[in-house]
Amino acid sequence: MHSQGQLPVHTNEEDPQFGRHHTRHYYMRRVRESLPARVSKVVCGTFVTLLLITGIIVFVLWLSLRPHRPRFYVGDFSIPGLAQPNGFANAQVIFNVTDRNPNQHIGIYYDAMQVTLYYQDQDIGGASLLFPFYQGSKNTTVLYGVLSGATLTVSNQRWMDFQNDLAQGVVVFRLQLTSTIRFKVTTWDSKRHKMHANCDVGVGPDGSILAIYRDKKCPTYFT
Ligand SMILES: *[C@@H]1O[C@H](CO)[C@@H](O)[C@H](O)[C@H]1NC(C)=O
Ligand SMILES: *[C@@H]1O[C@H](CO)[C@@H](O)[C@H](O)[C@H]1NC(C)=O
Repeated sequence: MHSQGQLPVHTNEEDPQFGRHHTRHYYMRRVRESLPARVSKVVCGTFVTLLLITGIIVFVLWLSLRPHRPRFYVGDFSIPGLAQPNGFANAQVIFNVTDRNPNQHIGIYYDAMQVTLYYQDQDIGGASLLFPFYQGSKNTTVLYGVLSGATLTVSNQRWMDFQNDLAQGVVVFRLQLTSTIRFKVTTWDSKRHKMHANCDVGVGPDGSILAIYRDKKCPTYFT
């Protein structure tokens, strides 16, 4: 008499041929199925790895070659005699803006730069600043100029507006620099981008730029 626990063992022993047969079939089927499967797995794996490596290389190249827009800072801005009530006749606006190319390996071509001065969003003067020029990587260009006479349209009324603002402590202007630029990556030149830098400048009663506006980065955008 067998105990119940031995029953499955006994059944196996009864037909060992069947068990071995089944096993051989099972493995043969597995081998037949897995050979192409394994090959395609290796091919897929290699392909995914290559894709990943290519992706990483492209990403690193993009990170190091991606052009950054130039950076503009107003170093100096002044209107001598701003506090004098009749100063408008001989008014002068003197500006000194720093334009820096922050890119490591990318140069920038600039078309002639246009500078425009705004007061309360009204164009009150401007000039063409430089001839087209090239700015090497990590290089700085000083944009210096004086607006007066024909390049500055300040009426007596507007000068009075300045005086009223000065009574509050500050006259705020906006100096806009516009140029069309191209990036140069080794031998490849990018397409042209129209670039604008908008610098807010606050001037105090002595006619000079206030400290909080000095060397502040001007917002830059493309159109
Ligand atoms: C403009 O500013 C730069 C940097 O602050 C200075 O080196 C340069 O002499 C200034 N140019 C003029 C004409 O004031
Ligand atoms: C900036 O450019 C000028 C003229 O191309 C060059 O002489 C000068 O060495 C450059 N400066 C830097 C820091 O690369």
